[in-house]
Parts: sequence; C-alpha cells; structure tokens
Amino acid sequence: GSGAFVPAVVVGTGYGAAVTALRLGEAGIGTLMLEMGQLWNRPGPDGKVFCGMLDPDRRSTWFKNRTEAPIASFLWLDVVNRPVQPYAGVLDRVNFGGMGVYVGRGVGGGSLVNGGIAATPRRSYFGEVLPQVDAGEMYGRHFPRALAMLRANEIAADWFERTEWYRFARVAREAATKAGMRTRFVPNAYDFAYMRREASGEVPRSALAAEVMYGNNHGKQSLDKTYLAAALGTGKVTIETLHRVTKVRREKDGTYVLTAEPIDAEGRRLAPKEIGCRYLFLGAGSLGSTELLVRARDTGTLPDLGVEVGAGWGPNGNVMAGRANTLLHPTGARQSAIAATCIDDWDDPAAPVFADVAPLPAGFETGISMYLAVTRNPERGTFVHDSATDRVRLRWEREQNAPAVAAAKSFLDRMNRANGTDYRYDLFGPRPKAFGDDFCYHPLGGCVLGRATDAYGRVAGYRHLYVNDGALIPGSIGVNPFVTITALAERNVERVLAEDIAR
Ligand code: FDA
Repeated sequence: GSGAFVPAVVVGTGYGAAVTALRLGEAGIGTLMLEMGQLWNRPGPDGKVFCGMLDPDRRSTWFKNRTEAPIASFLWLDVVNRPVQPYAGVLDRVNFGGMGVYVGRGVGGGSLVNGGIAATPRRSYFGEVLPQVDAGEMYGRHFPRALAMLRANEIAADWFERTEWYRFARVAREAATKAGMRTRFVPNAYDFAYMRREASGEVPRSALAAEVMYGNNHGKQSLDKTYLAAALGTGKVTIETLHRVTKVRREKDGTYVLTAEPIDAEGRRLAPKEIGCRYLFLGAGSLGSTELLVRARDTGTLPDLGVEVGAGWGPNGNVMAGRANTLLHPTGARQSAIAATCIDDWDDPAAPVFADVAPLPAGFETGISMYLAVTRNPERGTFVHDSATDRVRLRWEREQNAPAVAAAKSFLDRMNRANGTDYRYDLFGPRPKAFGDDFCYHPLGGCVLGRATDAYGRVAGYRHLYVNDGALIPGSIGVNPFVTITALAERNVERVLAEDIAR
C-alpha cells in the first residue's frame, strides 16, 4: 500500500459525511474524505456540468449501458431510457432482487440528484422510531441548525398561486382538498428566489428546465455548496474523488486500515491504496456503510462486529403512483422539477401517508398528478455477504412492499373517488401497473442506532469506529429523510468530539 496515515477518515461525502467532516475540521482534526464518485464542477462539451432529465447522456448514470429512470415508460412505451456509455455518472440504481435503490454518486452524495425536499419528521413519530434520542435537543437545536446549514427555504405563497410552473401542484391540492386531505408547503434546498428569476428569464434555467435527478446546473444548494464548502474552508479537510473504499481492517495498535480502489471517470482501475487512520467515520450511506461493515465482519477483518450489522433496512415505505386528471384539470406542459408541496395524511390511523406532490416535467401536457408516498411499512430487509462473489446483497422480497402499496392505494383510492379519476397504469413498465413499488429513493438502516451502534453511532465492538449517516435510521422516518440524517449526524459528531477525540 501507499502507507498514508491521517488522523481521521470519513468515507463518503453525503449528508452524514459532510456534517462529520465539517465538525472534525472545525475542531482542528486532519480529515480525509474518500468518495467513489466525481467532483461535479467541470462543464462538459455542451457547457453544462450535468445533463438534463429529458436528454440524458453518460453523465447521468453510474457505469451502465442504459439509463434506469424510475418512471420508465409512457403509454407503456419504452420512451424514457436511453443507451449511454459506461461512465462515473451521478445517479446509480443498485439493483437487488426485489428492490432497486437509487443513490447519488459524487461529491455531495444524494444532494446532487435528490429533489431537495427538506422535511422535518413529526416529533411523535421521530420519538417512536428513535426513542433513545433526546427529541427536545433534536427539535430545539439540531433540526434548526441542519435546516439553516442546508439553506432550506419555502416557496413564496403568492408566486405559487399564480405561476404556471406550479399549476400541477395546485391541481393536486384541489384534488386532495376534495378528498378531505391537507396540502402544505414543504421547504426545499433549491433556492426559490433563484427559481423566480428563472421564470422571469433573468438567469439560466435549471428547475424550470426539467433538471433534477441527474443533477441541477443552477439553484440547487447541494452539499458541495454548503457543508462541504465549509468543511474545505477549515483547511483541515481534503477530499479524494473516484476512490471506492472496499475493505477495512484494524491493526493491533488500534489503527484502522482502509483499502481504496481508485478509478478514472471511464472506469479504468488505478493502483489500489492503503490508508491508515486513528478515527474512522462511515458516511457512505445506508448501502455503502452497511456493505463495508457486513463484509468486514463476514470476511473476518473486523470479527467482533455483531449480528445487528446488516439488519433493520427499509425503503421508508416509498411507493410512487400517478393519477389521471380529467381534461378539465390540465397539470401544465410547463412544470418546475422541484416539489414545493406535500399532502400530510399521516394522521390516518389505518394507512398513514406523507406524499410529496411530485412534478412530471415532460415538456407536454400529461394530465398526470404524480405522488411519492412515504408510508409506514414495518417490513425490514437484511444485508448478507456472499463469500463466493464477495458481494453484499440485500434480502428484501418484493412482497415486503405490500403494506406500503396498500397504504398508498387507500390514500389514492380516496382521492380518485372524490374526484372521479383513476390511476395511470402506463408509467412503470410495459405491463399495466399503478404502483412503482420495486424501487426507492430513501434507503434507511443497516447499522441501526442503539443496535449495531451505541446511541451516538459508535459501532459496537470497536473503539473509534463510527457510522454517521442514513444507515443509523431503522428503515422509516415518515418523511423525506435528509434533514433527519443531517440533524442526527450533527448530534452524534458533537458528542463524539466532546468525549472520544484527543486534541
Ligand atoms: P448519501 O447516499 O447521500 O452519500 C453517500 C456517499 O458515499 C455517496 O456520495 C456515495 O457515492 C459514497 N460512497 C458509497 N459507498 C462508498 C465507498 N465504498 N467508498 C467511497 N464512497 C462511497 N431525500 C430528501 O430528504 N428529500 C428529497 O427530496 C429526496 N429526493 C431524492 C431523490 C432521489 C432521486 C434520490 C436518489 C434520493 C432522494 N432523497 C431525498 C434521499 C436522500 O438523498 C438520501 O436520503 C441521502 O442522500 C442519504 O444521505 P447519506 O448521508 O446517508 O448518504
């Protein structure tokens, strides 16, 4: 190996990782971040850093021959996905048997590709999901700090009511109201002031040019502009890109040694490196952090890891569905790609649903109202190591999403009845299908807080080894998760800095 040693390593550059690196850097601790994706700051031949959703090229997709968009068809036709050259693109879909998990790849992780929805969970549900966390401290300090750092902002109500770009959301609100459901604004990390200037033609368009999911060229206040910029600003944090961490072991003196496998953007393998550190923070997300620990346990490089590592995974009850509005309710050929509203029906005791009113910026009138429903599905998956291939697989059967589909169906059936409308059956593949239930955007769990770790993300069985990302949350949080991941990471790293780290 190269024999490099640094005080602290953070694996990944998503929400949990970015928070961790900033606070370590501020405390004066030399920190190296290792990210398997690229730094997205160089324009391609078209002058843009990211490609659009409607004309994807190789920048869209992490090493595949074809894009894998979630809404894969229109009128059952395979018109959405495109062949692409394999490349270190920004969006990955990790396909396990019963579940395709979307994740961001690059400096900023999920913040590069996600919808920016900055939702705070209900306090009662948060308390139920993470009972060992002091909710008073979270809601008093850590959530407000996370929202401020992430620059969460709300759409101006008067503009929302009159702009053509949110007709789709007003139509969805009317349908919800008829069904007796409450619609409200939801904060977003996309800068709504910038979006208004897009609408008036003062600045280049991004949300209003159907950009999201494969990156936003403007307006999105992703982590590279917030936490990571601040982390680099401490002068103590560096980021190595296109470095995938594949192995972790521990030396007798307590040093952790990582194997990193660098590649170039076309996927050519460069010489592997070994990097040693005193403090190791895993922020590679639910899939990434869990994979590293499951492999380390089952190949014997960290043999004291327990059975809870790999358990407690869930897709946050994610289900997508579209309703066909009547001709009286066009949703608009022009749609902002950024959601601004949600329907909060979590109080329905039989089938609690929190639904993002999702845009479908196709560029023509579709009449569709799209929803990403977050439901309360108690089913959980488990990660297992396959020794023959050294791959880590997710055990999750397709049927495990049945409770989520049932909740989404109860919610949308009510909406359809109240409005005399029906589902769209043509959006999720070649056969008629109303619910997108075989993919998710919100992977959570695998190294659950208080089980695989202590109450602050310290991994059970090892000193100075931490998980600080979505892997800590046990499969469900009731709303879009990145604000919770960020706030929880703030809380955990604060404690670790105070108690564990010699300065
Ligand atoms: P995150 O996944 O952000 O970061 C992990 C990073 O680690 C990645 O950059 C990855 O490349 C890197 N990595 C993984 N393994 C590695 C390894 N072995 N070595 C080196 N690097 C490695 N949430 C929300 O709240 N509001 C929303 O609107 C949306 N919308 C949305 C849309 C889409 C399309 C997606 C895919 C996701 C969302 N989400 C969302 C979910 C949200 O983006 C997600 O919950 C967070 O990004 C998770 O944050 P983490 O810190 O856990 O990891």
